[in-house]
Amino acid sequence: LRESFFTLRTVAWVGEGRVEMIDQTALPQRLVRRSFDSWEGVADAIRRMVVRGAPAIGVAAAMGVALAGTASKARTRAELMKEVEAAAEGLRRTRPTAVNLFWGIDRVVRAARSAEGGVEEVRGALVREVGRMAEEDVDANHRLGRVGAKYLADGDVVMTQCNAGALATVGYGTALGVVRAASEEGKCVKVIVPETRPALQGARLTAFELSRDGFHCTLISDTAVGSMMQTGRVDKVIVGADRITRDGHVFNKIGTYQVAVLANRHGVPFYVAAPASTFDLTRTHDQVVIEERAVDEVVRVGRRRIAPRGIGVANPAFDRTPPELVSAIFSERGPIESPVDRKIASVIR
Ligand code: MRU
Repeated sequence: LRESFFTLRTVAWVGEGRVEMIDQTALPQRLVRRSFDSWEGVADAIRRMVVRGAPAIGVAAAMGVALAGTASKARTRAELMKEVEAAAEGLRRTRPTAVNLFWGIDRVVRAARSAEGGVEEVRGALVREVGRMAEEDVDANHRLGRVGAKYLADGDVVMTQCNAGALATVGYGTALGVVRAASEEGKCVKVIVPETRPALQGARLTAFELSRDGFHCTLISDTAVGSMMQTGRVDKVIVGADRITRDGHVFNKIGTYQVAVLANRHGVPFYVAAPASTFDLTRTHDQVVIEERAVDEVVRVGRRRIAPRGIGVANPAFDRTPPELVSAIFSERGPIESPVDRKIASVIR
């Protein structure tokens, strides 16, 4: 595959009853797609991070629900809906933090419930809805990219965290969508990429997608974030988000909080880029579950064990950045400037 990440699709519904995804566990060594025809396969892919990133898992999970519909042998609408709801329940249990997952599942189930007619009409509604969701995600990223690009100047060096690029969405990216939009406006923006232990989305995915598209990027270890800022080598930070609560707290990949604290300490603007589907206006920060992943991710680098046995290990996959550390949020509905907690409701309704 030699496509550019400006146009490439991470997740796609390909004809009746099949979903294709780029296998993100194989990157950067191999850029390959995997094909799925059951919701259980999609659930497993989300859990194992074959597909990852909040908007990407939202659409992938919705496509999983649609697969339950297309694969079903149900003869009645009631039977079909039972299978669709069971798939939705199974997919909801894959990962707890990114709200896009629940948003995607709820939206496609709603489309099925409100379809008029029998089995075929419900299947049609499921397939149409996931197609719309995929297109809307790419469109939202282009829009929020243009919103954020206004905050970047030619020559800026931007630090990110994790991968909030094309690979984390259906296409184009959120934080990296802002970088892409700035470059489409003719601005030269360089990106500093923390490796993002333990799953290494920065080193494996962000560095891959940026370098592939010709962006200048510099990979650093996570422990170099403070030093890069202290020595004046970072102009701005832009990260994505997995959930933004109504009180303005940003849940994103582990490590984001320390990047935000350091940015604040050094007077570096800290921006968040996220589509409306990442906002959770029903919850406050204390109601969000932070996923704990397998300790294996921490005690190993690749296949090699690097820590002794018999020790305690914690592996929170996300952290929380409070609103006072956020300079602005870029959404497809416009910018939300500081104090973001007081302005979210007027932009995201
Ligand atoms: O565990 P992951 O790789 O799914 O976590 C992804 C992130 O934290 C991203 O920064 C976030 O989803 C924003 S993606 C546009």
